[in-house]
Amino acid sequence: MSNFHFSTVSDIVVGPGASEQLGEMAVGLGIKRALIVTDPGIIQFSLLDSATTSLDSHNVEYSIYSDVVADPPEHVVMDAVAAAQAFGCDGVIGFGGGSSMDVAKLLAVLITGDQALSEIYGVDQIRGKRLPLVQVPTTAGTGSEATMVSIITTGETTKAGVVSRTLLADKIILDATLTIGLPAHITAATGIDAMVHAIESYTSKRLKNPLSDMLACEALRLLSGSILTAVKQGDNVAARGDMLLGAMLAGQAFANSPVAAVHALAYPLGGNYHIPHGLSNSLVLPHVLRFNAPVAANLYAEIAPLIMPNQILPEDAIARTEMLADHFLALATDLGLQTTLREMNIPEDDLQKLAEESMLQQRLLVNNPREVSLEDALGIYQQAY
Ligand SMILES: NC(=O)c1ccc[n+]([C@@H]2O[C@H](COP(=O)([O-])OP(=O)(O)OC[C@H]3O[C@@H](n4cnc5c(N)ncnc54)[C@H](O)[C@@H]3O)[C@@H](O)[C@H]2O)c1
Ligand SMILES: [Fe+2]
Repeated sequence: MSNFHFSTVSDIVVGPGASEQLGEMAVGLGIKRALIVTDPGIIQFSLLDSATTSLDSHNVEYSIYSDVVADPPEHVVMDAVAAAQAFGCDGVIGFGGGSSMDVAKLLAVLITGDQALSEIYGVDQIRGKRLPLVQVPTTAGTGSEATMVSIITTGETTKAGVVSRTLLADKIILDATLTIGLPAHITAATGIDAMVHAIESYTSKRLKNPLSDMLACEALRLLSGSILTAVKQGDNVAARGDMLLGAMLAGQAFANSPVAAVHALAYPLGGNYHIPHGLSNSLVLPHVLRFNAPVAANLYAEIAPLIMPNQILPEDAIARTEMLADHFLALATDLGLQTTLREMNIPEDDLQKLAEESMLQQRLLVNNPREVSLEDALGIYQQAY
């Protein structure tokens, strides 16, 4: 076994209704005035109610910043910092999807005033401390609650990341009742995203480690077993709970053993056509699996039984990987997701440009088990067309 460094959030509370413990948690962290970072959808669906009731009953004052937008741009972060300064908060609660949690992470750091946002992009650039931070996800996909990354939109189609162990929260609450109202198409796409996090973590060329492997396997078992039920019966709390836990475990896995070519080829689809991230992943996943098979089939063969537990699988690893790729195509159809770039109305002439843009994602491509050239990327997009 080679050396590795694994970090994650140390305190995690899981269970339907667990957000009622937020007040007690805040008190435990010494928070007297909390800033809750969220988006208008969360307010509209009254998802904050049990959390704010809990803060009230523990005499924790709070203010709500609810102007986060999906794929948050820099001005949202700065706005949230200004709101937090005006309120004078001593703790931060991220409450929502990856967008709200990513803003909450940065706010907890930037409010100390030690560094500007422009100074902390990249890896390990945060020098100072942060305020106490609790994360409460309401989507089951990004795993952001358990990662040391915050992703911010910096231009028309460009995103930049802040990566630092300082961004790992003090506590996570996984309350499946908060995800009951998540629409079917978002449940499907974000669920596939979480599965891709686990698969790419398990096959990562760099930083693969036994703890991430263990987490990725359990994530795949939970996500595979519950995704169809969660999409078709949104109010099934057990399935929602398995999705939420699976997505977090996948987040812990890929935070320490990073994702690769599926994500690298998915990003240009999101950037150019605003295809949701999970759907972008789903569109290229089967074709990346086939491309990687010559070098990674043994690893895919190890996780295939977790993803297809009720099927008789061939012994041969390449044949098993083929079956896995077919399985994901069929699963996407069952989940109501599109399966080809043609269906997404992407002009075939754009494939070359997409391939060129995917080559810019070297930070992800270096993790792929098989080297991906420009011609390879074009070939994968052609397969996906
Ligand atoms: N930090 C990380 O490690 C990491 C990893 C992957 C992605 N991301 C980032 O996360 C963001 C995407 O996050 P996301 O997919 O969770 O979505 P999101 O946070 O952007 O939310 C999408 C929409 O879903 C709605 N929503 C959220 N929860 C709901 C619920 N329970 N019921 C009904 N509607 C609900 C929101 O109101 C919003 O309109 C992107 O900015 C992406 O770059 C971060
Ligand atoms: Fe992802």
